Amino acid sequence: MSASSRTVPQEQLPSEDLHPRPMPVINLGHLSLDSRTRSGVVNEIAKACRDLGYFQVINHGISQAIMDRAVEAASSFFKLPSETKEEYSSDDLRQPVRYDTSSKDSISMSRAFLKHYAHPLSDWIQYWPQKPPIYRDCMGRYAVEVRRVALLLMEAILEGLGLDKGYLKEKFQEGLQLLSVNSYPKVSHGATAIGLAPHSDYGFLTILLTSCQGLEVLDRSSKSWKTVQQLPHALHVHIGDHMEVLSNGQIKTVIHRALLNPEEARMSIASIHGFALHEKVTCATELVDEENPQKYKESSFSDFLDHLTANMDNKQRNFLESLRM
Ligand code: OGA
Ligand code: NI
Repeated sequence: MSASSRTVPQEQLPSEDLHPRPMPVINLGHLSLDSRTRSGVVNEIAKACRDLGYFQVINHGISQAIMDRAVEAASSFFKLPSETKEEYSSDDLRQPVRYDTSSKDSISMSRAFLKHYAHPLSDWIQYWPQKPPIYRDCMGRYAVEVRRVALLLMEAILEGLGLDKGYLKEKFQEGLQLLSVNSYPKVSHGATAIGLAPHSDYGFLTILLTSCQGLEVLDRSSKSWKTVQQLPHALHVHIGDHMEVLSNGQIKTVIHRALLNPEEARMSIASIHGFALHEKVTCATELVDEENPQKYKESSFSDFLDHLTANMDNKQRNFLESLRM
């Protein structure tokens, strides 16, 4: 399986912005305080979603130990011999676990990845690697915690869109969670510094844990790349294609890429949250009216996998573009 809706032609992208502005950092602990404080945070999240499509969260309740152990498990997996890792190689995007190192997906320039479903954990964990021995336990604990954070965020984002608290709650509860566990080498002299080419993610939102700096987001207003700062104990959040669809374009997906780090090899764990495989995502009827007609066709994660499979060689085809009406 895959979860990147890819791709933006390299030549259309701007060069580095040398004067990055600080990104919004949201204190998630404040969501569970009194209603005035909560609405303040909901507004901050809504503004970040509308203006940028990304933000960072702190005070999210996941312990540093759980985060560190997940990164350690990931890093130990990629240190295994190639034959062991290649047991998980497959060209079939629908495999429950998939390992790859090449750019068959057209965006992995210099990245090895292991992708697997994570929710419901009891359905999927049996397919996860048994080596290293800590993998299932450490990644499983992180997966459960990060999903809790994703559901809190979804609720706040929907509230910020003016939708009812509890809007489609069951569909989010039953939704899929996909972990993309990524490993990037340290940049070597004369080699390309891009680990993962520009793309947007499928799904409603992605929560990213990274071992060191390297992620960049494309800032919509200045059309320049922004380096995502590496704050202690923070997680990075970005909006995916299906949130753009659900919000009927009020919130936009975000193009991002990963650069190789000059100092060290880099690990990242992207947790992607969507509806269940065959559940269609459509523009919320509450956000469609005469002035704002429906902008996107409905689609499911399964439709997205079909789209990727059919467009393996076509770097220009973007899933979200194919949904525009
Ligand atoms: C992804 C992704 C960024 C990173 O896995 O979709 O965008 O920093 N990862 O690894
Ligand atoms: Ni991504």
